Amino acid sequence: MSFRARHLLGIEHLSPAEILSVLDLADRYVDLNRRTVKQSDVLAGLTQINMFFENSTRTQASFELAGKRLGADVMNMSVAQSSVKKGETLIDTAMTLNAMRPDLLVVRHPSSGAVNLLASKVNCAVLNAGDGRHEHPTQALLDALTIRRAKGRIQRLTVAICGDIAHSRVARSNLILLGKMECNLRLIAPPTLMPPGVEGFGCELYDDMKKGLKGADVVMMLRLQKERMDGGFIPSEREYYHRYGLDAEKLSFAKPDAIVMHPGPMNRGVEIDGEIADDINRSVIQEQVEMGVAVRMACMDLLARNLRAERGRAAVGVMV
Ligand code: NCD
Repeated sequence: MSFRARHLLGIEHLSPAEILSVLDLADRYVDLNRRTVKQSDVLAGLTQINMFFENSTRTQASFELAGKRLGADVMNMSVAQSSVKKGETLIDTAMTLNAMRPDLLVVRHPSSGAVNLLASKVNCAVLNAGDGRHEHPTQALLDALTIRRAKGRIQRLTVAICGDIAHSRVARSNLILLGKMECNLRLIAPPTLMPPGVEGFGCELYDDMKKGLKGADVVMMLRLQKERMDGGFIPSEREYYHRYGLDAEKLSFAKPDAIVMHPGPMNRGVEIDGEIADDINRSVIQEQVEMGVAVRMACMDLLARNLRAERGRAAVGVMV
């Protein structure tokens, strides 16, 4: 069980076998996290730095908890109080932190590609916690684990991803992962929020919720990402909710046992009806949060195995 690459920058470079091995290991961490004593020493002696250049609740908290439960020394760099505000570039900040010899660097950044660029400049393992509209690999992995635990499998399901697809790294990483798992993918969005060129992912496109949800096993809702919109993409939130918000009536078109997902943070009454979000028989939104910690533990565990192996080889080289 291992990753081929030193970093986790996206789902794009993972094989189906690598994805399944993360899910298998994460299942074991779910068991650990449900114990009273949640401590392991898998990352003992290693230093993890979390650099979040964009707001985050779930992702940052779960990366921090994941590192602490595995015994790493975890530091959260507070960007608001850092020299970034004095004009330091991303690369200079990264090089400064790199000089402090972290082993794992968790990075979220508003620009697509920024995390890949940073990874090319440092010599620790970098985990992408979301870069612009590009990728959010640990979100897609935690979504896959949630789906697999609810449905008993991840392959060949009908999954409908609904809402602001154009601005969503969550949608992009999920499309890549679920495509690798041979799922039947449907995208439902108003034409203004459907990104151009998305047909290349091999999915069916809809602008009508009832048609798109017909027979779906999984209904994945997305947040309207206003911070990435530079203009009017929707007539009004009320109108958007009427046409695209998930309510009981629209959900009745999906399979009777379809699960409802949302990566959070959610806007109740805009993307999703509050009662559906809280319905423990349909919604797995809280399970997604729980799986987030376990998946991040699994990813950091696998990357740390590579680091140790690489350093072991280098040490043997020095001795020879
Ligand atoms: C998502 C993100 O930041 O991309 N949130 C998350 O990580 N749980 C989705 C979003 O912000 O809408």
